[in-house]
Amino acid sequence: MSKPYGILGAGRFLHGGDYNPDQWLKTPEYIDDDFRLMRESGCNTFSIGIFAWTSYEKKEGVFTFDWLDRIMDRMAEEGHNVILATPSGAKPSWMAHKYPEIRRVDRLGLREPVMPRHNHCWTSPVFREKVHTINTELATRYKDHPALKMWHISNEYSGECYCDLCLARWHQWLEEKYGSLDNLNDLWWGGFWSETFTDWREIDPRNTAMDSLEVDWHRFTNFQLADFFQWEAIPLRKITPNIPCTTNFMGANEGLDYSTIAEVVDIVTDDQYPCFYIDDPDLVKSAVSVSFKDDLFRCFKPDRPWMLMESCPDATQWRLPKRLKRPGVHHAEMLQAIGHGAEGTCYFQWRAGRGSCEKFHGAVVDHSNSSETRVFQTVADLSKKYEKLTGILGTDIKSDVAIIYDWDCKWGFRHSGGMPSDNYAYDRNIQDHYRTFWEQGISVDIFRSERDFSGYKLVIAPILWMLKEGVAERIKAYVEAGGIFVMTYCSGVADETNRVLMGGLPGGGLREFFGLWNEEIDVLDPGSTVPVVGVAGNELGLGTLNGLHVRAVSHLEGATPLATYSGDFYAGSPAITVNHVGKGKAIYVGALLDVAGLRDLYGPIVASLGLEKALDGTAPKTVATQKRGDYVLLENFSNEPATVILTGKYVNVLTDEPAGAELVLEPAGSAVLVAA
Ligand code: GLA
Ligand code: ZN
Repeated sequence: MSKPYGILGAGRFLHGGDYNPDQWLKTPEYIDDDFRLMRESGCNTFSIGIFAWTSYEKKEGVFTFDWLDRIMDRMAEEGHNVILATPSGAKPSWMAHKYPEIRRVDRLGLREPVMPRHNHCWTSPVFREKVHTINTELATRYKDHPALKMWHISNEYSGECYCDLCLARWHQWLEEKYGSLDNLNDLWWGGFWSETFTDWREIDPRNTAMDSLEVDWHRFTNFQLADFFQWEAIPLRKITPNIPCTTNFMGANEGLDYSTIAEVVDIVTDDQYPCFYIDDPDLVKSAVSVSFKDDLFRCFKPDRPWMLMESCPDATQWRLPKRLKRPGVHHAEMLQAIGHGAEGTCYFQWRAGRGSCEKFHGAVVDHSNSSETRVFQTVADLSKKYEKLTGILGTDIKSDVAIIYDWDCKWGFRHSGGMPSDNYAYDRNIQDHYRTFWEQGISVDIFRSERDFSGYKLVIAPILWMLKEGVAERIKAYVEAGGIFVMTYCSGVADETNRVLMGGLPGGGLREFFGLWNEEIDVLDPGSTVPVVGVAGNELGLGTLNGLHVRAVSHLEGATPLATYSGDFYAGSPAITVNHVGKGKAIYVGALLDVAGLRDLYGPIVASLGLEKALDGTAPKTVATQKRGDYVLLENFSNEPATVILTGKYVNVLTDEPAGAELVLEPAGSAVLVAA
């Protein structure tokens, strides 16, 4: 199935970046150069005005858009797309001084001084009104402008505010959710440490003793973000109903549940600054992590493409060491996003500023103002590549495997205490499972547990901590109908308010369904290992796997053991089990396995299901392969050349030559093939 349209329907990949002409108004010759250089670079899409509020409204209520008028017209003349920003990402200095309420209050209750950006109060009626006014001005002025193709609402929404207005909104949100304090106290286990509340106003979000509260505070914060987005979008959607609205996400950020925020945007866009050092021994791990996020973002809106809103054509200024991007890396990185469904890759930033704290951040045009730089040429070459790849636009990605990634599970697991759950444990665990498929070029869809997974051949739920309403029932129906469902330790532990499910884990009827009772969990020092040994004749042919420092200690209650622990007091007890139910299998992985162990586990499952791989051939494990329609994209995340063996007949799209039986990718090299 093809997607109905490219992001902006323009039949080309979006390529360009954040462009801040407002910072160059006194030196218009550079703006002239920008338009010449844009043409030379082959870039076609520019995000404008992201932090430009003072240039529109230097004095309260007095608006001027002259410079933007000129830029918009020139953009249209050049046939470029403008992604026009709403400027709320940085509030004007005068506003922050005049209206202290728009500034955030921190966890200690202190009103922030006039900080530069990304720090407005989510609730402040004054700020909301100011934003509404400026957005209305922008939408009214440019509603019929041919260059306007998308709204870039604010910038990298994030953060929390503890001012009285936000606290009152929080209390109202809780009241709407729980109805009565009595109900909340019960569900939050309020008797513990005498935290039974008698007034909504007593509920302070900084109370770190109550994990239910912490999980709800995360939910509330995301509600505030989504609500603010929708507020900003009101005039835009009214005045320009055909222009999509987006806001740029920031990868898999700990506190931000982008699956919720994605529901209110029209197009999903993300900012990524991966650490792709070509000689890094963990390069593949970083590449896996980026692919994982790409797939997560792709699946927020499976019916339409997403785009990389920000990336960097060279080194960022905020990461030390500030290593330049090695040859090849940039194209590999961008093609990786395209391979995972993106239809645009843009940069922060088009031109490096002369002043302030990001002046040495990588940019397409640096202070030499030249097109002869290595970075400029790399970007221009990528534009040429994109011209050859337009056949990819609108193509679909097919996945038979799904992984459940759920922010509620992540937070419940993270905040419960006594669990092996530092900030990144959940993501690390999930990405190890994902990696075994990545290495084989098997596409994986990723989404939260509410999504329908009935159509997949294999569904994996690492740390399905929280069982939301209906999820256990859907797992059962899925397996009975013939699906394979893999669930790990720390699954089926809690309900939606993070109270433990009674009656032995996994709860919610999954104990019976998986045919096993997980009585205890042994959490050792990272680095502890235990061999997990396949039971003779086990149906997956498992040998000895490496179990790490987290071990669910379980009893069989009908399941068949596939592997057992070989050490400690639970030696001989089941570490991996299968329960055959209906036409399918419910597999429980009680041991935290290393990547090699996961490869061994999934290898036979992949083979038995005959899962489709991106490439008809074989590639080394460092090579990422993604399939879109008939196209295969390959990127070599290694400092060594990689030899890819092609069994199928392909044409190398970038050279128009038949690809032959072997393709050699340089270190950080990339290629695009299409089935002949
Ligand atoms: C973020 C912001 C940009 C810029 C870059 C620098 O992604 O959105 O405005 O500050 O970081 O890497
Ligand atoms: Zn506030």
